[in-house]
Amino acid sequence: MYILKKWIALVLLLLSTPSSPTLGRELNTDWQFPSKFLWGVSTSAHQVEGQNSKNDWWEWEQNCHVAHCDQSGEAADHYHRFRQDLDLAQSLGINLYRFSIEWSRIEPSPGVFSLEEIQHYREVLQAAHARGMKTMLTLHHFTLPLWLTHRNTPEKSGWLDPEIPELFGRFTEKVVQGLGDQVDYWNTLNEPTVNALTGYVAGVSPPGLQDIQKAPFVLANFVKAHAKAYRIIQRYQPQALVGFAHHMRVFDPYRSWHPLDQLAAYWIDDFWNHQFIRAMETGLIDFGIPFVFHYSEPYSPELAGSLDFIGVNYYSRDLIAFDSQSPQRFSIKLKAGAPLSEVGWEIYPEGLYRVLKSAYKYGLPLYITENGVADAQDRLRGRFICDHLEQVARALAEGVDIRSYIHWSLIDNFEWSLGWAPQFGLASVDRATQKRTLRPSALVYRDIIQGRSGVCK
Ligand code: FCB
Repeated sequence: MYILKKWIALVLLLLSTPSSPTLGRELNTDWQFPSKFLWGVSTSAHQVEGQNSKNDWWEWEQNCHVAHCDQSGEAADHYHRFRQDLDLAQSLGINLYRFSIEWSRIEPSPGVFSLEEIQHYREVLQAAHARGMKTMLTLHHFTLPLWLTHRNTPEKSGWLDPEIPELFGRFTEKVVQGLGDQVDYWNTLNEPTVNALTGYVAGVSPPGLQDIQKAPFVLANFVKAHAKAYRIIQRYQPQALVGFAHHMRVFDPYRSWHPLDQLAAYWIDDFWNHQFIRAMETGLIDFGIPFVFHYSEPYSPELAGSLDFIGVNYYSRDLIAFDSQSPQRFSIKLKAGAPLSEVGWEIYPEGLYRVLKSAYKYGLPLYITENGVADAQDRLRGRFICDHLEQVARALAEGVDIRSYIHWSLIDNFEWSLGWAPQFGLASVDRATQKRTLRPSALVYRDIIQGRSGVCK
């Protein structure tokens, strides 16, 4: 039945989908951004703070699982330099700071909460407000406390732990009590699908499992943890705006004319971009990629309607080819000749327009919570920002309710399994001295924020 439904959907899709519209070569800089539009920058705790020695990523780094055996170590010492970093953001005209708090600092052992660490994050939030910025707080951005990941066997560890939604809820409650009055927007989770893929399927992040069959169980726990946090935040602050940051990608068929490539791209798109949101919208967990896995759970009222907005993290697109040799029946390809970032991701600005349009079908406000490029020499970033904002303006002009553009990242930081090489910062960081230097592209962003989109011509 499930497979039949998917085939019918495919046939409808093939009959109905026009090829995606393309832009002319001229960059249109006659942009209209709403006056309340939020211009942001983002960081995450483990990537910038330094000395997060009580979480699973730290342990992973010690065991040399990261490229070149890199370790986060002092990172960008943002833990001590956040005021200076927020000054930098302020100098660009930023009016929204998105960052994450580190669970293992706030709850260093089970059920024990550190008032000092909560106070630290209060100071970060207050420092942002003092500089005229709104705050967006992410509760979970890829790291888990070691006490949580060590309490079970690997098969039930981390996001496979049946109690993790409950534990995440307990943590959230303390955070809302301690920080809630300073938070303008909540992100419960950052990129749960990426976390499930890297940690439990590809094995390139903790816990390092490689079992695609585990993916739906991990995702189900993420949805439940999100919903628990959503209900708790709403109980304390009925006016709160709560969403999550979703990594959305474009999946196009490798051979545009090939029905099996089209089918595979359609399935992957549905799985990656939509099934997670649908679970939060409808209260029905129903995760699957035909012939790979399928998992569902009965309706849960706690999950249903647990989103006030969708956070969109957008970086790139993948081409999907049907591949009978691979266990998943598909493989991922790059477009020949496409422009690439320094980490080899295709730079495809129109994809941002396409994912915004597709995310908007749920009727919820959208916040672009991440978009950026690895570009140590700053050869690409100015153009990247212009081209992507052009696509945001295009979606806005068509009525898509987009409330923010948040650039990843304010400063160079520790890029997970890729280590220190990729540099995503609007400001570079000299790791020997911790000196920050704004890159020229940061001034492009500043000019756009100030309404001088002509800088993009
Ligand atoms: C996103 C992550 C963020 C950063 C960027 C480059 O997937 O959310 O932490 O690593 O990619």
